[in-house]
Amino acid sequence: LATSSLLAFVSPAAAKTLTVGFAQTGAESAWRTANTDSMKNEAEKRGIILKFSDGQGKQENQIRAVRSFITQRVDAIVIAPLVETGWEPVLREAKRAKIPVIITDRTVQVSDESLFVCFIGSDFYTEGKMAADWLAKAVNGTGNIVELQGTPGSAPANERRKAFADGLAAYPGLKIIDSQSGDFRRSGGKEVMEALLKKHGKAIQIVYAHNDDMALGAIQAIEEAGLKPGQDILIVSIDAIKEAVAAVAAGKLAVTVECNPLFGPKVYDTVAKVLAGETVPKVSYNKDELFDSTNAAAALPSRQY
Ligand code: AHR
Repeated sequence: LATSSLLAFVSPAAAKTLTVGFAQTGAESAWRTANTDSMKNEAEKRGIILKFSDGQGKQENQIRAVRSFITQRVDAIVIAPLVETGWEPVLREAKRAKIPVIITDRTVQVSDESLFVCFIGSDFYTEGKMAADWLAKAVNGTGNIVELQGTPGSAPANERRKAFADGLAAYPGLKIIDSQSGDFRRSGGKEVMEALLKKHGKAIQIVYAHNDDMALGAIQAIEEAGLKPGQDILIVSIDAIKEAVAAVAAGKLAVTVECNPLFGPKVYDTVAKVLAGETVPKVSYNKDELFDSTNAAAALPSRQY
């Protein structure tokens, strides 16, 4: 009894409280808010001290945050990189300080893959391909498309754009007639759609939005122009936030491909493994599905974000 009660007393006190620094991109979309909440709530549940930094859509803010995490000697650093390039110097600094870095959500382009431990997020290329395949089938391979791109230089904008174009390559009747960035924001999607409607008018038959917030902004613009989303213009999107799945159920959005932001638990499991010296997979993708008129209404009550 003496030993076990002594252990019961000693173990919790001896267990080190983890401190993790998280450099988030910003708060551009509902997806992002869900991702931030998942990281914060899970840290609280596990008793992890989370040093959270909102990059406010600027890479320099994220880099500054990472440098400050290094100075504070956090146990691990998690980065959701706004854009793909420009990370090598600060990643080298973290490596030199022997602080493991986990890249989440968006990938980075670096010449030395040992600069980060692993990547956890969604496969953006697969998402873009799923959107293109679904569309080609739904419209029998014909139609004029306008594309609402995400943040220029970001992995989701790059990959979703490439995958969609690759997917359309087999359908010469499906044409992207214009493509502009709405920066993953609802206001951006609305403004760009207003301008595209003025420029192309009734020639627009399909909208491909790189995320739901821009799609929902475009729906507003389409309605304000006196057109019916889902009837006059078909809208295809990515993320599957609850509001978008509801828009699918209501017939305004044709399809949304899931991009699950709730990976706080997976990130902290990985941090624990890395700090315990275990090997973790270099790349770990979340499993994503697709919601259209066949399954959106049924899925709605259980959507968590
Ligand atoms: O990196 C993930 C993307 O970023 C999501 O699709 C989008 O909504 C967010 O802003």
